[in-house]
Amino acid sequence: MKVLIIGATSAIAKASARIYAELGCSLHLIARRDDQLALLASDLLVRGASKVSHSMLDLNKFAEHEKTLDAAFTELGGVDIALICHGSLPDQEKVEQNFKQALKEINTNGISVISLLTELAPKFIEQQQGTIAVITSVAGDRGRQPNFVYGAAKSLVSTYLQGLRGKLLAHNVNIVDIRPGLVDSPMTAQFPKGPLWSSPERIAQKICEKHPPRQSHRLRSRLLASYHVRSQRDPRICFQAAKILNREVPQTNVPNSLNQSTLYVDLDGTVIKTDLLYESILLLLKKSIFQALLIPIWLIKGKANLKHQLSKRVHIPVELLP
Ligand SMILES: NC(=O)c1ccc[n+]([C@@H]2O[C@H](COP(=O)([O-])OP(=O)(O)OC[C@H]3O[C@@H](n4cnc5c(N)ncnc54)[C@H](OP(=O)(O)O)[C@@H]3O)[C@@H](O)[C@H]2O)c1
Repeated sequence: MKVLIIGATSAIAKASARIYAELGCSLHLIARRDDQLALLASDLLVRGASKVSHSMLDLNKFAEHEKTLDAAFTELGGVDIALICHGSLPDQEKVEQNFKQALKEINTNGISVISLLTELAPKFIEQQQGTIAVITSVAGDRGRQPNFVYGAAKSLVSTYLQGLRGKLLAHNVNIVDIRPGLVDSPMTAQFPKGPLWSSPERIAQKICEKHPPRQSHRLRSRLLASYHVRSQRDPRICFQAAKILNREVPQTNVPNSLNQSTLYVDLDGTVIKTDLLYESILLLLKKSIFQALLIPIWLIKGKANLKHQLSKRVHIPVELLP
């Protein structure tokens, strides 16, 4: 399998690259730090990659995208998976007050990705197969006070991906929007960590799945429905769930997880193995053991009622999601 990783020195990208290397894939890495690229490339070769090449690029130099991607496609002889990982989490206060800074961040998290997608789409159409996966964020789902410039840029990309997905479906090209929640990486080094945090390795496992591609038919998973049960009193508490519809389509040479149109790596049980129900129960137990005794009674009326009752009584700071 031929894998192109853009923003390859990100913690999530590196963890993903290691998994692809262990599967024996050929990789081309794009990032802005040459020394880090060289180190990563030798590490991946030791781990079993068939071949690793790399290009150095500051991804905010949009004019260089075409040339760099052309070189990557030539180097690999086509691409099965393109994974776009770069991003930056700015100081919200600073970017809110300084448009120049805001523009830089919007370019990094939004416009540069649109530029890359504009170059990648025709190449994948020509191949008539493959997957383009982009790491966006749950921060793009709605504007939150601590990070809405970052969120707005991620939202731009997610909306673009929705449209592109429809367009490329007919060409046997999958578009995957990966939306992690809190990940312990250099980007979030300054935040205190807690039980809601995941690791880059865990996210990477979900992205790549350690299974080699199947030989006959593959299941194409599509997001059927996602729903939010929100507390009316505290809209910040949100239980999110997703149901996946699986249907068979002709084989594409990519891991199962990348055959999903949207990969929520967040509060839906995919990485944090809970939709916050268990955390809420634990918080209620800590707050009042007597109220917790009512849990079986609430549950009689269904899980949604239980979640609703819990959300009225405990608060989980979901607004801290990046
Ligand atoms: N960490 C989280 O909680 C979280 C949550 C949701 C989504 N995400 C998204 O996940 C992706 C990966 O982030 P991460 O957690 O792995 O953080 P990370 O390790 O800090 O990775 C961010 C990467 O983006 C690269 N980058 C930034 N601007 C660039 C530019 N102009 N040109 C080239 N590369 C550039 C950085 O390069 P350098 O190494 O050279 O600085 C770094 O490698 C990002 O898109 C991020 O927005 C992260």
